[in-house]
Amino acid sequence: MLAALAEVKRDPSALAPLEVGAYGLALRLLTPHDVTDGALIERLGAWRAASMANYPTQFPVTAEGTARWLREHVLGDADRLMFLIVDADDPYGVAYGHMGFDHAHPSEPVLGLSNVLKGDRERLPRGAMEVVEERMIAWAHEALGVVQITAEIFEDNRPSCALHERLGFVQTGRRGLRRHVEGDRTVYRPLAEDDEAEPDRWWIRVVRAERSPRGRGSVASTRPEGETRSAERPPA
Ligand SMILES: CC(C)(COP(=O)(O)OP(=O)(O)OC[C@H]1O[C@@H](n2cnc3c(N)ncnc32)[C@H](O)[C@@H]1OP(=O)(O)O)[C@@H](O)C(=O)NCCC(=O)NCCS
Repeated sequence: MLAALAEVKRDPSALAPLEVGAYGLALRLLTPHDVTDGALIERLGAWRAASMANYPTQFPVTAEGTARWLREHVLGDADRLMFLIVDADDPYGVAYGHMGFDHAHPSEPVLGLSNVLKGDRERLPRGAMEVVEERMIAWAHEALGVVQITAEIFEDNRPSCALHERLGFVQTGRRGLRRHVEGDRTVYRPLAEDDEAEPDRWWIRVVRAERSPRGRGSVASTRPEGETRSAERPPA
C-alpha cells in the first residue's frame, strides 16, 4: 500500500482531477504549489477552527501552522493523501472542502480515512459529501487496490457518524479517550492502561470493505473488536 501511495505522492499534480459526476464537483490532490496559496491556507485554517471540536488535537489556528501542517504532514507523511473538493470545470480554482487518507497499512491493502470536511455548505449541499467520498473511495479501490477503509470518529460527531453509516461503514469497536490540556493545546488520547475512570469522550471505529463475498458494507472479513480502553495507535 505504501509503495502505491509513494508513486502517487511523487508528483501529485500528475493525477488528473477525479470528476464526481454530480453537483459539478471534482477532487484533486493537494500539491506543493497549494502551500504557497495564501487564500487557500486562510480557508483551510478557518474550516479547521470552525470544526475544532471534531478533532482529537485542538489548538489556536494560525496561517503559519496550517502551511506547516500541509507541508510536513499532508505532503510530507508517506502514508497520507489529501484531495481538495473543487469545481469540475475549474479544478485549480476555489476549494470547497477536503478529504483524504492516512494510516496506510504497510503491507495490507488497508487505508484510514482522514480530513473529511465540508467547508462551503452552500456549494456542498445535503448529499454532496456522500457522492464525493464515494468517488474518492472508488478511486482508491481502482488505483491503489485498497480493499478496506477504516476510520475513527468521535461518537458524539453525529453528522460524521451518519454520513459514514450512509456510505456503508460498519462499527467494529469503541475506544475511550482522556482529555489532556497541554499549554494552549487540548489533546484526546486513548486511556492509559491504569486509567479506570469514565472516559471524557469516545471514538467509534468504523470499517468498509470494498470487496466482500456478501457485498459492500458487510465487512465479512472484519471481526468486531468490541470496546478498547487502551491505546492501539496514536490519535491522528
Ligand atoms: C462530517 C461532515 C463531512 C458531514 O457532512 P454531511 O453529510 O454533508 O452532513 P452535514 O454537515 O450537512 O450535517 C448533517 C446535518 O446535521 C446538522 N449538523 C451539522 N453539524 C452539527 C452538529 N455539530 N450538531 C448537530 N447537528 C449538526 C447539519 O445542519 C445537517 O442538518 P440538515 O440535514 O438538516 O441540513 C460535515 O458535517 C463536516 O464537515 N463536519 C466538520 C468536520 C468533521 O467533523 N469531519 C469528520 C471528522 S471524523
